[in-house]
Amino acid sequence: MKQQNIYDNKEFFDGYQSMRNNLSANELIEIPQLFKLIGNVENLSILDLGCGTGKHDRKLIGMGARKVTGIDLSNNMINEATKNTNSDKIEYKVMSMNDIDKLDEKFDMVVSSLAIHYIEDYDGLCKKVYNLLVDGGRFIFSYGHPMDSCAILNNYSNNYVIINDKKYFLISDYNNEGKRVSHWFVDGVETYHRNMSHLVNGLIDAGFKLERMEESYATDEAIKLKPKYIEQKDHSYYIYFKCKK
Ligand SMILES: C[S@@+](CC[C@H](N)C(=O)[O-])C[C@H]1O[C@@H](n2cnc3c(N)ncnc32)[C@H](O)[C@@H]1O
Repeated sequence: MKQQNIYDNKEFFDGYQSMRNNLSANELIEIPQLFKLIGNVENLSILDLGCGTGKHDRKLIGMGARKVTGIDLSNNMINEATKNTNSDKIEYKVMSMNDIDKLDEKFDMVVSSLAIHYIEDYDGLCKKVYNLLVDGGRFIFSYGHPMDSCAILNNYSNNYVIINDKKYFLISDYNNEGKRVSHWFVDGVETYHRNMSHLVNGLIDAGFKLERMEESYATDEAIKLKPKYIEQKDHSYYIYFKCKK
């Protein structure tokens, strides 16, 4: 399956890393909400899809997980992850999440932080994750919110208009699912937009029981640390799902 590996583009990777090192919305908004859903991981064996630099994997081991496997398509990301880790309970692999059906072990939990919207076959992935989990295992992930990803921008970076100094986000093309190409550090960044019913039904059709869904919002604390996140108080950039096999 053809898939873009934008994190191995140097200009993109440098821009992304500098954003992440500078109180990003991932750190202030997305990660705290995702970890609240992840909850207790003591003694669990966990697979992280699109693990990036492995920050979450180190945190999961710190929280008592027995073993974490982090996979990512990008060599740049896995190199960083390996450089930053000295735990023998974590294993990193350069691997696409499209290929997880080739893994020959089962996991107690599969997690993913803002990586699944990069792949084309969401329904297929849900089924592959289901097959990799032990009975009662959980799949918990964050994903670009469909209200934020819907507008077809063709390499234009702003998905809003400003009227009387207020940002109004664009929600056209909501039911027109599929590839979105935007400018984010570089031109041509590909992600996939799905509407809400597709995101939920993909999980149900794979056999999962949906336990919780959350939508992101900036807390007052986050806004205090970075005032520009006031725009994320009323507009959700991320959505989270927690489901059980
Ligand atoms: C926004 S980053 C998030 C990284 C990490 N989860 C975090 O939260 O710090 C998205 C990650 O998904 C990875 N990715 C994109 N497509 C992928 C695929 N098909 N298989 C595995 N990883 C993929 C990228 O290389 C990148 O590391």
